This record gives sequence, C-alpha cells and structure tokens, in this order.
Amino acid sequence: MFERLERMPDDPILGLMAAFRADPDARKVDLGVGVYRNERGETPVLEAVRKAEQAVLTRQSSKTYVAPAGNAGFNQAMERLTFGDDHAVLKGGRVRSIQAPGGCGALRVGAELIRRAMPEATVYVSTPSWANHVPLLTGAGIKLERYPYYDGATGGVNFAAMMEALDRLPERSVVLLHASCHNPTGADLTEDQWREVLALVRRRSLVPYIDMAYQGLGRGVDEDAFAPRLFAAELPELLVAVSCSKNFGLYRERTGVLHVVSSTPTSAEAILTQLVRIARTLYSMPPDHGAAIVHEILTTEGLRSAWLAEVSSMRERINGLRREVVTQLNKAQSLRDFSFIERQKGMFSFLGVNVDQVRALRERHHIYMTDDSRINIAGLRSENIPYFAEAVAQVLGAAS
Ligand SMILES: Cc1ncc(COP(=O)(O)O)c(C=O)c1O
Repeated sequence: MFERLERMPDDPILGLMAAFRADPDARKVDLGVGVYRNERGETPVLEAVRKAEQAVLTRQSSKTYVAPAGNAGFNQAMERLTFGDDHAVLKGGRVRSIQAPGGCGALRVGAELIRRAMPEATVYVSTPSWANHVPLLTGAGIKLERYPYYDGATGGVNFAAMMEALDRLPERSVVLLHASCHNPTGADLTEDQWREVLALVRRRSLVPYIDMAYQGLGRGVDEDAFAPRLFAAELPELLVAVSCSKNFGLYRERTGVLHVVSSTPTSAEAILTQLVRIARTLYSMPPDHGAAIVHEILTTEGLRSAWLAEVSSMRERINGLRREVVTQLNKAQSLRDFSFIERQKGMFSFLGVNVDQVRALRERHHIYMTDDSRINIAGLRSENIPYFAEAVAQVLGAAS
C-alpha cells in the first residue's frame, strides 16, 4: 500500500535551516526560523521557567494521565492571562478552556469545534498569514478563504480593503485574526481599528477566531490581549487559540490553550464536552510538563514578576533591534525607506525584496530568510546589523 505514496516536497523552513547549518561562513545570519534569540544568538530557557521546572519536578509524585481537558489550574491561569483577572466573561461563567499541544494544537481543536457546530463553515484568513494556518484549519475539513490585510507600499494594514472585504462576508463566517505581532508581516491593528472590526463583526454576525501566539512581545502583556478582552466583553461567541511557545520560551514542550466563549454558561458547559471529545479523537490528552511550568509561574508571585520582566526584556530587545535596523538600512542606501519596520511589532517583518534578491542575500552574503522576504528581527544582533544593512543595500543595487 505504501508504494502509492509520493515523497512530499521539502518544508521550505526546514530546508533553509539545513542550508544555514551547512554554511561554513562566519558572517552567516539566520533570519528564517521563527524563534526568539538573545544578543548571543541563543534561544535560552527562561530563568522563571528553570525555577518553576525545578519546583514542579520536586513536587511531582506521579506520571499518571492528566485530565482530558488538561491541567485545570493552568487553564484557569491562562484564562486570567488572556482576558485579565476580573473580566466579566470569566465572572459570567461563559468561557471554557482546554489545554492543547501548543498553539497549533489549540488552532486545530478550535477548527474541529467549528466544523462540528457548522459543517458548512468557511474561515477567512488574512493575506498573507502564517503558512501553517492553511493546513491546520483545512485539515479539520473547513473551507478557507482570504481577506486582504497587508499593504506592501506602506508596510501597514490596508484597513479599508480589509473592512470592505469583511463587510461582504455571509453571516456566521469565521474570521481568523492575529491578536498582535502579525505573522508574517508585523503589521497590527490599532485599538481604534479593533473597535471598528468589533462593530463590523457584530453587525454582520461574524464569528471571530483570534490567534494569540506572541502575547507580551508586541506592546505589552495586557496591551497585546486588547482584542480578545474587548471582543469577549462585547460578543456572545469567540474562540481564542493561545500559544506559550514564544512568550514562555516553551517551544518543544508543546504548551497552549484554546478558550471558547459562548453565550450562556450552559452552552459553555456543552462546548467543553465537545472539546474533550475532539481532543480524545486527536491525541487523547495533552502533555503535562509545559502547562505545569506555566501554571507554577503564573500562580507564584515571585516567578510571575520574574517572568513578566523577562518578557519585557525580550520585547525591548526586539523593539531596539527594529529601531537600529531602520537606522542602518536607511544609512546604507537611499532607494527605499525602511521606517515601516520600526512601526511594526513582534518578531517578523517583510523586508519587501524580491525572490532573486532573497537568493542573492543567501548566496552572496550568507543571510538566510524565506523566499517571501520575511525576516525574524530577533535573529539579528547589534553587531551584525551594519553587515546586514550593507548586504541589503548591495542587492538593491544602491551600495553607498
Ligand atoms: C501566528 C502563529 N500562531 C500559532 C503558532 C503556534 O505555535 P506553537 O504550536 O509552536 O505553540 C505560531 C508559531 O509560530 C504562530 O506564529
């Protein structure tokens, strides 16, 4: 039977990682993979995580299964982190959460829930969006369409085009929105724009599905959760898929959560039974370790403040790199104004060069990024920004 299966094309990011590893040049720069890096180019275990992990392991007395919805303490702590401690939606008992294997697991469980509720559902995803949204959502059997989002000319959101497209969607369409640090563009909505999206979603009876994978890495832990908090306060139904991979640095521990807001506590309770059943058919129960660590951090005062400080320093490093790269890029050439990079948020930006220029950066300058010119800002270091800027100036044909 297996002879019928053809080889799948290589994953572009994995191919890029392999090429980077094989490149012997000392000046090489990896802007491809979407992981945070510190000034030494490392993706370290956070101090708060290290301490929480020790406490968790010391106390652990069994490896028996966790509950089907995962660690209840983790789910509750994540509800408070996402919606804020005293949010009316929590007090009203209208949220149910299921721990999931990473943000990907949460996105998939949410997509399965949508299909159960509305087999004919279509989910609308921004152009562009994180590439993995497509298989994660369509794999659950729901249709996927696009709405316009990024404006390459300004490096911002083409808000008018986005709103015009959303205004034409049929009722009960699902709209996938990035809470902050839009991947791959770094272009986020302002708070006023979120309010306009909310009004439209309500008027057109759309169902928002918010993906929050970078809470704390854009403007701040509370600020980045502006959209889920606003929407949960004003709408009857909402899904929020949250990843702890980046802001807790827990990538390989596969830690995430799906929150579902529904109109009454009774329907919320029914939804939880559906979520548990979905998880049972996919992976049965989530892994314990990462969620136990996050629970420990969020519920232990000293660890929580230490974690918040570490998130702030990651965010400040990224924002500092954004400022520095704009200064150096604009100094090295005058063909393009790269100031938009400073206005964007989170780890990613599009450099806005074509695929030949991306290849030239790789082949001549050992600078690695995906063919769409997405760069991971956190992959830069203050010491190699001038080298990077000079290389970009050269491929743009404007070396000074
Ligand atoms: C936009 C977005 N959503 C969700 C995820 C999910 O991440 P994970 O499954 O590693 O937690 C990512 C990770 O890169 C992402 O960029």
